Amino acid sequence: MEPRRDADELGVYVHVPFCSHRCDYCAFATWTDRGHLMGAYVSACLAEMERAYCEGLAQASTVFVGGGTPSLLPPALLAELVAGVRRQPDAEVTVECNPESTSRELLERLRDVGVNRISLGVQSLVPHVLDGLGRRQVPGAVARAVELIGEVGFPTFNVDLVYGGAGETDEDWRATLDAVLHLDPAPPHVSAYALTVEAGTPLARDRARHPDDDVQADRYVMADEVLAAAGLSWYELSNFARPGHSCRHNLACWRQADFRGFGCAAHSHAAGRRSWNIRSIDRYVAAVANGSCPTAGEEVLSRERQALERLELALRTSDGVPAECLPATPEMDGLVERRGDVLVLTRRGRLLANEVTLRLSVPGTTLAHLG
Ligand SMILES: C[S@@+](CC[C@H](N)C(=O)[O-])C[C@H]1O[C@@H](n2cnc3c(N)ncnc32)[C@H](O)[C@@H]1O
Ligand code: SF4
Repeated sequence: MEPRRDADELGVYVHVPFCSHRCDYCAFATWTDRGHLMGAYVSACLAEMERAYCEGLAQASTVFVGGGTPSLLPPALLAELVAGVRRQPDAEVTVECNPESTSRELLERLRDVGVNRISLGVQSLVPHVLDGLGRRQVPGAVARAVELIGEVGFPTFNVDLVYGGAGETDEDWRATLDAVLHLDPAPPHVSAYALTVEAGTPLARDRARHPDDDVQADRYVMADEVLAAAGLSWYELSNFARPGHSCRHNLACWRQADFRGFGCAAHSHAAGRRSWNIRSIDRYVAAVANGSCPTAGEEVLSRERQALERLELALRTSDGVPAECLPATPEMDGLVERRGDVLVLTRRGRLLANEVTLRLSVPGTTLAHLG
């Protein structure tokens, strides 16, 4: 299966590893005690970018500045970071923001340097669910941030949600979905993630707060029904959008386009070579400052592994996979549906996506030699 991509497609990801508080479920590379390094960190990212441009890195077709909490940077510093990414004139440029650090000044600066998409981390709108997630909240911050996104005038934005937190009932999840859809303006894109227990987090150490698989499945079905009824259709397992509002950056990653990451812990991928940067802020800043390469490791994927990963990613999206990549056996009944030459997961199939993935094969290879 050939990936659908343009020759000049390049995604750029910039990681911002600062937070004001670490949520109990989060395993991302982010720190709450490194604020004094913000200036040095942004300078290091800009230096890493300049080196890449000297080596011939192309202009980005999509940019995603994520974290951590990018909106925690002083507005001028975040704008300087975004402006350092060279991009095509019609590039999609997304910045992740947390509600409580989303100000009018920040949004105006971002808009003025070409940001055209905001991704807002909401997770839940029910206070006791946020408590169960170990996430801090400022009452009214979400509604205010969304209002500002509308007033400042971004053409599109996303809201991130998480379901399955301790103490969350079906009614709580329904209330969050309804409240999100009634925000003004209403989000044209929602990411709804099943809470995952990540090793090393406070959540991992507290079994009483671990989510239940059956409950998670019910919540997924509720999200799919409620969001679809509001005009947001799934285009990846956890991602729902109105027509024309899918995230181009994520779509390109799922279609195996090249992407280049800047900053600590950022990953890159080009033509089957995957690499990742040093994880700690301090060591990343030091490496760039003394002229060393901040890459911490890399792997080269065989053509077969690339082909299989391409299928695994495509299966998770509404692109689907070529029909010959899945067995035509009764166990597939009800899990996939045929759309022309491709098979796309049904809702039931999406709930069992990992099981279906295990049955994928690349036509012409047995893949028996793959790990
Ligand atoms: C990189 S995080 C940072 C976003 C931002 N700092 C925030 O917290 O809103 C992006 C998203 O990943 C999701 N996420 C993080 N940890 C998760 C977990 N353990 N399980 C499920 N979703 C998670 C959350 O929805 C979060 O908004
Ligand atoms: S979920 Fe977001 S705010 Fe919470 S610790 Fe992770 S990156 Fe920071």
